Amino acid sequence: MDMLPLSLGSTEVGVLMDKSAKFWDRMAKRYSKQPIADEASYQKKIQLTHEYLKPDMEVLELGCGTGSTAIIHSPYVKHIRAIDISSKMIEIAQDKTDKKKIDNITFETLTIDDLNDQEQQLDVVLGFSILHLLENKEAVIANIYKMLKPGGIFISSTMCLGDTMKWLKIITPIGKLLGLMPLVNFFTKDQLKTSLVDAGFDIDRFWHPGKGKAVFIVAKKQLFNEETS
Ligand SMILES: C[S@@+](CC[C@H](N)C(=O)[O-])C[C@H]1O[C@@H](n2cnc3c(N)ncnc32)[C@H](O)[C@@H]1O
Repeated sequence: MDMLPLSLGSTEVGVLMDKSAKFWDRMAKRYSKQPIADEASYQKKIQLTHEYLKPDMEVLELGCGTGSTAIIHSPYVKHIRAIDISSKMIEIAQDKTDKKKIDNITFETLTIDDLNDQEQQLDVVLGFSILHLLENKEAVIANIYKMLKPGGIFISSTMCLGDTMKWLKIITPIGKLLGLMPLVNFFTKDQLKTSLVDAGFDIDRFWHPGKGKAVFIVAKKQLFNEETS
């Protein structure tokens, strides 16, 4: 992990968050114009995600960026709350939904670490290209598990850089220092699977489109609490 000492105080964590927000703010315009790198895999992930969505569902999307994925999924669910640390990303996302007159997405500038939603309220949590950008994915995954209803679904797509791009680990701290790269967390696809299973999830679907590509995972919270069933 491109990591911070665990002893960081809340002020230091706040400063890092601020830096991260600034990095993504700078990227927002360019990001919104970037073509999708692997259109075929993206379309398949959308189709696979749709298989899990229902019209009465409450969805939370983490790190929604410029809102493209939330917009695509919005006709299939009741409501999507889509959060992102970057206010510039959210501005673009809001503008796109306003133009399309979509009224069931609520965008919010918020870091994942400040999410303290009530337990067992959500049907689905979406996290595309976000888990490898977090300081402590285990804590975030545990929080997602808590927020989901029994039987709820966490759908993610993640670059597992520990499998292929280990060399990147050497240059990431320099890139981050120069403001050219975000915080990046290195782990393998097996480590990611383990993190999800350790948090209590069952893996319902695991699809790796190929070397150097993001891993798509559908993780399901158990329907019954093991202690009470
Ligand atoms: C690689 S982009 C992915 C955007 C979108 N999910 C997609 O698939 O196109 C990562 C996004 O996560 C956001 N992000 C990074 N760290 C975050 C955090 N701690 N809390 C919330 N959003 C974060 C960034 O601002 C950026 O919009």
